[in-house]
Amino acid sequence: MSRKDDFYNRAKQEGYRARSAYKLRQIDDEADLLSPGDTVVDLGAAPGGWLQIAAEAVTEAGTVVGVDLRDIDEFDHPHVRTVQGDMTDERTRYYLRKALGVDPDPDDDAEPERPIDAVVSDMAPDMTGEYELDHARSIHLARQAFDTALELLRPGGSFVVKVFDGQDLADFRADVDREFRYVRAYTPEASRKRSSERYLIARGRTDAPVAEGDEVEVEVTGTGDEGDGVADVEGYTLFVPDAEPGDTVEVVVDDVKPRFGFAERVD
Ligand SMILES: C[S@@+](CC[C@H](N)C(=O)[O-])C[C@H]1O[C@@H](n2cnc3c(N)ncnc32)[C@H](O)[C@@H]1O
Repeated sequence: MSRKDDFYNRAKQEGYRARSAYKLRQIDDEADLLSPGDTVVDLGAAPGGWLQIAAEAVTEAGTVVGVDLRDIDEFDHPHVRTVQGDMTDERTRYYLRKALGVDPDPDDDAEPERPIDAVVSDMAPDMTGEYELDHARSIHLARQAFDTALELLRPGGSFVVKVFDGQDLADFRADVDREFRYVRAYTPEASRKRSSERYLIARGRTDAPVAEGDEVEVEVTGTGDEGDGVADVEGYTLFVPDAEPGDTVEVVVDDVKPRFGFAERVD
């Protein structure tokens, strides 16, 4: 029996709407992404295999919202919602924010709400068989998913995105690298053998919870390579010169980078 039949038959037996359900399960097993109580956005969600896996992982304490161009058959679970629309269209993003309970139309100067724990995207273009065109379209969709992740993910949140391998993948990955702590490429066993699909698994959205000039109290928990104290602020690393592990110190933040920042003691 081929691997394709294997996953197809398993999906039928176990009541999953698509064999691709096993891809998200393998990604989750590999990277430990989804937890009970999480809020998850699933892009390119029809017919709903990933929605089923995500709904199981977050339990009824969590919420999953799926978006697809195609209609998605309703789910019994009250914690699964769906939106039909094109993710390249701003109106769909508006309805997604609404389904998530996030202000769908925030003022330009309002502090953005970012309550989402994970954005996962299995979006794929209709395949033409023309390698470069399919690749370019896939990267375009992956970038829409990336923008959505940057807009909605809480600091420390996770992002998974399908891409077809090709010349623009390295640039896309470099952009994802800049915004997350850990990024890796992964091909689940459930992906078809000859497929060029890959998943980028990005963990630890580095949205600095502090700004330059902020004064905060931090606990120093380690020492960096250069001898500076290392403190963790909501998952974001601050280096503090002249501080030792175990110190609790008042600092002023003087440099904020995507992955880490620097602060001076003021006490
Ligand atoms: C591989 S299928 C997803 C399978 C799904 N993960 C599951 O487990 O059931 C890819 C989906 O991406 C959707 N898609 C492609 N372009 C899209 C777009 N611009 N906006 C929303 N969905 C899109 C397609 O309609 C298709 O249903």
